[in-house]
Amino acid sequence: VKVFVPRDTAALAAGADEVAAALRAECERRGLAVEIVRNGSRGLFWLEPLVEVLTPAGRVAYGPVAEEDVAGLLDAGLLQGGAHALGHGLTEAMPYLARQERLTFARMGVTDPLSLQDYAAHGGWDGLRRALALDAAAIVQEVLDAGLRGRGGAAFPAGIKWRTVLQAEAAQKYVVCNADEGDSGTFSDRMTLEGDPYMLIEGMAIAALAVGASRGYIYIRSEYPQAVATMGEAIARATQAGFLGDNLLGSGRAFHLELRKAAGAYVCGEETAMLESIEGKRGIVRSKPPLPAIQGLFGMPTVINNVITLASVPLILARGAGFYRDYGLGRSRGTLPFQLAGNVKHGGLVEKAFGLTLRELIFDFGGGTRSGRPVKAVQVGGPLGAYVPESQWDVPLDYEAYAALGAVVGHGGIVVHDDTADMARLARYAMEFCALESCGKCTPCRIGSTRGVEVMDRIATGHNRPQQIHLLRELCDTMLHGSLCAMGGMTPYPVLSALNHYPEDFGAQAPARQAA
Ligand code: NAI
Ligand code: SF4
Repeated sequence: VKVFVPRDTAALAAGADEVAAALRAECERRGLAVEIVRNGSRGLFWLEPLVEVLTPAGRVAYGPVAEEDVAGLLDAGLLQGGAHALGHGLTEAMPYLARQERLTFARMGVTDPLSLQDYAAHGGWDGLRRALALDAAAIVQEVLDAGLRGRGGAAFPAGIKWRTVLQAEAAQKYVVCNADEGDSGTFSDRMTLEGDPYMLIEGMAIAALAVGASRGYIYIRSEYPQAVATMGEAIARATQAGFLGDNLLGSGRAFHLELRKAAGAYVCGEETAMLESIEGKRGIVRSKPPLPAIQGLFGMPTVINNVITLASVPLILARGAGFYRDYGLGRSRGTLPFQLAGNVKHGGLVEKAFGLTLRELIFDFGGGTRSGRPVKAVQVGGPLGAYVPESQWDVPLDYEAYAALGAVVGHGGIVVHDDTADMARLARYAMEFCALESCGKCTPCRIGSTRGVEVMDRIATGHNRPQQIHLLRELCDTMLHGSLCAMGGMTPYPVLSALNHYPEDFGAQAPARQAA
């Protein structure tokens, strides 16, 4: 009997290794034959460790399972999918999963992440094989036609970026994957690195074929040790099996891939600071132009994409641009793996086509707050994203609709706060975060963020409040328009949205609203 116990960090943190060991020991003691597969996570984090058993009807889920539940579960017929208080029936029929549109995350939690056999049996390498049969321009065209935009947050069309690199003349080009997932409340990159690493390798190999690159780097944050280990092992196995190296699938084309571990600076997720860091220098933002697509790593044309952007590519090549394009709306095509976190009952990963609303995500999927109190504010798009108030929860999640609100979809991180949240404190935290993480290259961010914290402290004391609020707005305007990168340039989003939508928390009069 096959039993699945996840090896994703979220499951490990909740005791998955202990559960797997207890299961193995208890089955041995009872003389029961089991094969324990360490799969990725399904992304239903409140149920981790989520143990699944393969039955003739499909996989049956139990969770959250603790070490001490194992004996009782076996008594109840775990290996036959028997009924138990921790049981959830067939995994795929669980509403949280059944309501999703898992394209990029289709294999997540289903397969053993490091098994090449599993990957191939679930559609792996189909995209790379098709790419090998196309010329570079045709691969780029496919990605353009699919409407894929950068999933790191900026939503720049991936195909246009690739075309720029393809058209640049150079002896050496690179593909760099940005896996420095620094946004608070986000984990889709990490899940991919840990739960479906060959998908990223395949996406990067396709990108390399599309632009004529022969070397690639994955820049992973060091706070993700499990992801670093899994990715390193996946690269070694893929190289040995001929999916990487000098002769991709016997085509004579070369693509070599290496890992680089980040050192914990948020700003190194900014693409040019990341390039500096990979080159062994201090992570300071470079001025653009030149764009990395023209002069990137070691001064050479470089494709830089986020994990999810690259991971979306194999499916696009395998199923065709039209298949992917059919999901989503407007200029936001395909799906986004939204990440529900913060004060939410059912935190986890929800992959859906663009166009669903925040209300659906927070309540239909998330089940409201974990505390049971009313939701007050939702930060969308990471620590530099705006706080979205209830009046905007029915706006469809797409890049343009959110931009019109003065908000961002970003990397799809969603952090929920209940009515005990003090928005002035959260806004101050955003400024403080910017002051701590600023690379120091430009004045609006380096000095502005420190002055911002001081102004907000004065607002809190109530002394001359209207004047200080006015000052804060002016400062935000300077940071927004004068900063060199998104760190200083987007810090005003959480600050102004908190001020505009929750003026009472700043002791201000309600009609002080302005667009963020
Ligand atoms: P950007 O808009 O300056 O650039 C987006 C991308 O398009 C870059 O790779 C840039 O080099 C490329 N690009 C722009 N014009 C191009 C052209 N004509 N040809 C080829 N390539 C071109 O945005 P940036 O500063 O790279 O990213 C900011 C975003 O990062 C924010 O919107 C934020 O949501 C996101 N972010 C994500 C984090 C995460 O953990 N995922 C953390 C912090 C911010
Ligand atoms: Fe550095 Fe901040 Fe300027 Fe970005 S905005 S370049 S992080 S000082």
